[in-house]
Amino acid sequence: MSVYNEIKAGAKKLTTRDLRSWKKGPTRRSLSALTCYDFQTAQLLNETELDMILVGDSLGNVILGYDHTISVELHEMEIFGKAVRRGAPGKFLIMDMPFGTYATFTQGVENCLHLFQKTGAEGLKLEGAFPHVLEIISRLTNSGVPVMGHIGLIPQSVHGLGGLYQHGKDEVSRERLVREAKSLEQAGVFSIVLECIEKTVAAEITQSVTVPTIGIGAGVDVDGQILVINDLLKMGPNRPPKFCHPIADFYSLKKEAITRYLETFNLPSNPTKKYELGNHIHS
Ligand code: KIV
Repeated sequence: MSVYNEIKAGAKKLTTRDLRSWKKGPTRRSLSALTCYDFQTAQLLNETELDMILVGDSLGNVILGYDHTISVELHEMEIFGKAVRRGAPGKFLIMDMPFGTYATFTQGVENCLHLFQKTGAEGLKLEGAFPHVLEIISRLTNSGVPVMGHIGLIPQSVHGLGGLYQHGKDEVSRERLVREAKSLEQAGVFSIVLECIEKTVAAEITQSVTVPTIGIGAGVDVDGQILVINDLLKMGPNRPPKFCHPIADFYSLKKEAITRYLETFNLPSNPTKKYELGNHIHS
């Protein structure tokens, strides 16, 4: 049985070893990844054929209501990571390292080891290919901690970048991205997220490295796709980013359901109905 079939049958959790042989092996296909932040959604994903779960620091936006991922703290990642781990023991789980927790080498390595150990994740994701990040990644990967890289639009650097926009649109940016991907590969990452990168540049990066690339708003010529689950299922009132086409509208569904429920409280001419509803709830 091929690795792919074993994974499809749910018999085997994806490993970094599978991923290392992914691109050149006969089992190559598009990798599927979604973010997840809570126990029950993790339980659901655990029953599907999804390849990987990322507890992204996007939880700052979609769960905690912060303006930026910059506000997310290490202990918050730990709480959500543990919940997702409990719900999805059978999935390859990656934890995002939040802003400011890997700004220096010693503190970065310590915080990474802490989150890795406490959550029981299979890997960590760090944003950017800055020199100190590459050093931390090297140390981690040499200590047996799998690391996923992340280049292009790196939301933790929103202020440094001057906003959230597509990368790779000019030659300087293209060359820099290819260089960054190669340096991450050299530092030992097992895969690289390419976020909001012009699609031909994402394709070039994918060809230039031996580790799988996972795109988000980076076209189809990458090795896999990742999306924020709240965007994919439209869990919130806001329009998801342009590159994400929701497959459901849970916000409207839930709003309609709650509205219908609340209508039953507002029946002055029919107090019995209200009583029955209360009865039903407590029975
Ligand atoms: O935090 C996150 O959800 C992410 C994905 C968008 C890749 O980093």
